[in-house]
Parts: sequence; structure tokens; C-alpha cells
Amino acid sequence: MLQKPRGTRDFLPAEMEARRSVEGRMRDVARRWGYREVCTPGFEDLELFTMRSGEAIIEEMYVFEDKGGRRLALRPEITAAIIRMYVNEAKVAPKPIRWCYFADCFRYERPQKGRYRQFWQFGVELIGADTAYADAEVIMLAADMLDATGVTYDLKVGHLSLVKNLLKGLHPPEQRRVMAHLDKKDFDGLAVTLDGMGKHEIYNSLTALVECRSLDEAFGISGTIPEKDRIEQTTGLLDTSGVPYSLNFGIARGLDYYTGMVFEGFAQNLGAENQIIGGGAYHLAHLIGGDDAASCGFAIGFDRVMVSLGEVQHKKDTVVGIVCTNEGRTRAFEVARAFRNAGIRAEMDLVGRGLGAQIAHASRSADYVVVIGQREAESGNVTLKNLHTGEQKTVDLGKAIAEVKAHGAC
Ligand code: HAM
Repeated sequence: MLQKPRGTRDFLPAEMEARRSVEGRMRDVARRWGYREVCTPGFEDLELFTMRSGEAIIEEMYVFEDKGGRRLALRPEITAAIIRMYVNEAKVAPKPIRWCYFADCFRYERPQKGRYRQFWQFGVELIGADTAYADAEVIMLAADMLDATGVTYDLKVGHLSLVKNLLKGLHPPEQRRVMAHLDKKDFDGLAVTLDGMGKHEIYNSLTALVECRSLDEAFGISGTIPEKDRIEQTTGLLDTSGVPYSLNFGIARGLDYYTGMVFEGFAQNLGAENQIIGGGAYHLAHLIGGDDAASCGFAIGFDRVMVSLGEVQHKKDTVVGIVCTNEGRTRAFEVARAFRNAGIRAEMDLVGRGLGAQIAHASRSADYVVVIGQREAESGNVTLKNLHTGEQKTVDLGKAIAEVKAHGAC
């Protein structure tokens, strides 16, 4: 028997309903903040992702050549594609541009709980606002969106300029190696790497910076940096807005395009794969042939949010089983349509079961059955049975619909 590819999942109806419900809550938050949905292709020119994605993601990419000999990649993330779309389609649109997206990404990673080869991200990108207000808006929106899902999480906010100030003397590839150690808190590896670069003297400052949790202390370690005012302004806005976060200047992020503020969020009830959001400020547009539009955004790992929420009970549709005799079948189709037109989920027998078998079948999932026999077909009334209470009555169609609707509302 053929199976699905490793690292992918099938979603049955109950799981899809739960996913759509959580996705809907995120969408609603995005809408209220003015972020409008966009959509980009599932694959892009490989080069778009090799430009600034970072080694780890490049190694994990699904790369292929199409029949025309083009080198393409399934998107491992969506930010680069959004900025490509901005440069192609919306360069002259009034700034800032607020966009959101919900789409699947592909990374060839070792699968485990919360880590898949096809996974979904709900993300936002704020393009063309290079201010502390923009940084703060994106973090506040992230917190609002995560709160709307019901997950409990810790948010960590940092800024790359502090570490970069300490790494000033190193070439960008060397800086990236050092930052990768810091991101993982791999201090042994950091010591070896710094020794190899002849830079052991910055070891103590780097480790102290990663551990410190206050701005004054952090600036004391990093030395004076031009971004100080902006960082203070951003954190000041977060403090007054009540967003719960802690400072962490060891955040390096796995992608190479970030330039300033960076942040990550971790679900409190997940194990190894507990990072449920990542984002920050970046510059990408100028690499794709556009202006140097400063941007800021994040992506929520939707599947990890769903794992974190676990078996949450989502509001279930009220279901009506329309059961009928042969004489009632034509009328039953009309009755089913009337329920559906009223917004109610109604299902009919399609395989010619007898009346008793139809009722037994319907009672496995339905809240009500509506019986249409010859008598009902002639009178225009319906027999409505509430499967929870056992109560049964013959009423006109309008009353039956109203009663079922009232059940759905409570
Ligand atoms: P990222 O941190 O690579 O950032 O991914 C964002 C989130 O996607 C992660 O925090 C994680 O929850 C989820 N994720 C990543 N890999 C997997 C996987 N294999 N299985 C399940 N979930 C996964 C980005 O992708 C950036 N584009 C975010 C961004 C937007 N920065 C600025 N704008």
C-alpha cells in the first residue's frame, strides 16, 4: 500500500475543522490590525532563497529543475517571496504596506513531533517603515495573534546590533558562525571557534550579553551603538502596552536577512520543537532589484501551535439527518435544500437504506433527524426529532428550521 511521503501529514475532517477555526482567529487579528492577505507561488527561482536564507535553510531546500531547465525550489519560507512580490507588483504602493499570509513551506528536516517537511506558517510583513513604532507594532501584533489562539508562550526580544558591535572585526561568514553558537547557547563550541579566529578576548562579553536581561547591562557590555535610542523606544512601547516579553540579545535567528530587532516565541508545553514564532526587522528588497525598503515581520509555526493546543474542543456544527421513505424522497431533497439555505448542515441518505437504518446511521453524527414520509410529503410538514432529548414533533418546515437554528446558537 502506498503511504504519504515522510514528514507530511493527512488531515481528516475533525482536524481540518480545528485547524480552520484557529486559522480563522489569526486571520481576524490580522484583519483588525490592517494586514491584508496575499499569496505567492509554492515554488520560486532557487536564487530567491539562496540570496539571504542562511546555510541551514539552503541545505534543507527541495530543489528541482523543471522541463525548461529552470532551477526552482519549493518555498522553505515566505518572506523572500513576499518581498519579491512587493518589488514586482507593489513598489509604488503607499507605505507602509501591511500584508499577511497563510501558506505551506517545505524543508527537508528530520521529522519529529512539531517538525515536518511540509508545514504551515501564518505570517505578516510590514514593508516600508523603518522606525521603533514599526518594530513595536509587529511584536504587539504577534502577541495578539498568539493570544487569540490560546497558546501559552514566552516571548524573547533582542537586537542584532549589540552582538554585531562586539563582532565588528570579523568577516560576515565568521560572524555567522559565532552567531550560530550564540543562538544555540553552545558556549563550548563558541570558545573553540573564537580561539580558531584568534578572538578569545570577546568570549566573556559575548556570553555575558547572551545571559543578561536588562538594557543598561546589555549596553554596558556591547559598548555604544547608534541603535540605542531605537531599542529603548521599542522596548518602552512594549512595556507600556503590557506585552509580556523578556530581553535576549543572544537571538541570532536561522535566516541571514535580519538587520535589527529580532524576536522568538516558545510554547510552554512543547518539548524540543517549542519555537512557535520567529521574526524581526530586515532588508531584502534591494537584493531583488527594488528600493531599500526596510521591513519587519514574523511567521507563526501553525502546526506547532496546533500541537501545543492539543485536543481543544472546537465548536461543532449542528447536523440534521434528513431521512425519508421512497414516497418522501423528492420532498426530502427540497427540505434538505431549505435547511442548507438557512445555513444548517443537512445530510441525506444516498444509498437506499430503509427508514430505521437511516435513523440509526444519522444518529451517529446528527443532532436532529427530520423524517419525510408520504404523510409529510403531502402535508408540507416535517417530523423533527431531537436526538439528544428524544423529543419528537410534527411542525411546519419554517418552525423546524427555527428550532434547529436556536440549538446551534446556544
Ligand atoms: P523561521 O523561524 O524559520 O522564520 O520559521 C518560523 C516558524 O516556522 C518557526 O518559529 C517554527 O514555529 C515554524 N517552523 C519552522 N520549521 C518548521 C518545521 N520543519 N516544521 C514545523 N514548523 C516549522 C521564518 O520562516 C521567517 N520567514 C519569519 C519572518 C517573517 N521573519 C520576518 N518575516
